[in-house]
Amino acid sequence: MNYLLFFLLVTVTICQDEYGCEDCECPDLFDKYDSLVGDKSSVLYTKEAGCVYNITCMTSIPYHWTLVMFHFNDSEIPLPDNAFDYALARASNIEAPIDLIVNIFEFFGMVCENSEWYFTKYPHGISYRNSTGEYIIGADGELDGKKSKIDEFYCTPLSK
Ligand SMILES: *[C@@H]1O[C@H](CO)[C@@H](O)[C@H](O)[C@H]1NC(C)=O
Ligand SMILES: *[C@@H]1O[C@H](CO)[C@@H](O)[C@H](O)[C@H]1NC(C)=O
Ligand SMILES: *[C@@H]1O[C@H](CO)[C@@H](O)[C@H](O)[C@H]1NC(C)=O
Repeated sequence: MNYLLFFLLVTVTICQDEYGCEDCECPDLFDKYDSLVGDKSSVLYTKEAGCVYNITCMTSIPYHWTLVMFHFNDSEIPLPDNAFDYALARASNIEAPIDLIVNIFEFFGMVCENSEWYFTKYPHGISYRNSTGEYIIGADGELDGKKSKIDEFYCTPLSK
């Protein structure tokens, strides 16, 4: 075995196990939780090593409230013509809702970068508004890979 690689692996392992290198540079993700809509203490979640969470939510019931909000000015997704600046990504397809249990951290591809929380997956696209109404784009996941800063998120807890 290459000794340098071996040394590196040992260092990384020790670092994760014993010296607290698993701390995440981002603030608590739940600082972004929209507590106007519901109580975060009813949400089932775990914080794992590094910047990884497991957040268990229902997708559709009651009002498609499991979602992430963002602003186009903080996103790689271009602002549609005449759209208002904010938009949201839902965990459900509002045209054909199915109530599933998902880990929204993984579902929305949430990541910590430069001490900011972003998300990178839009399995049911995004919903934005203009003065005429609400519209959905990217419903087949074609926006996946674009980064948006998380403004707020909300999770419908299992008990609802
Ligand atoms: C996430 O948490 C849920 C609920 O506790 C659990 O069922 C699931 O196995 C966990 N997933 C992972 C990847 O740890
Ligand atoms: C984007 O707009 C929001 C709301 O107006 C604002 O809070 C945020 O600072 C803006 N971000 C940038 C990069 O201008
Ligand atoms: C709002 O967006 C829709 C969908 O792109 C478009 O058809 C409509 O003309 C827009 N309304 C305004 C006022 O631009």
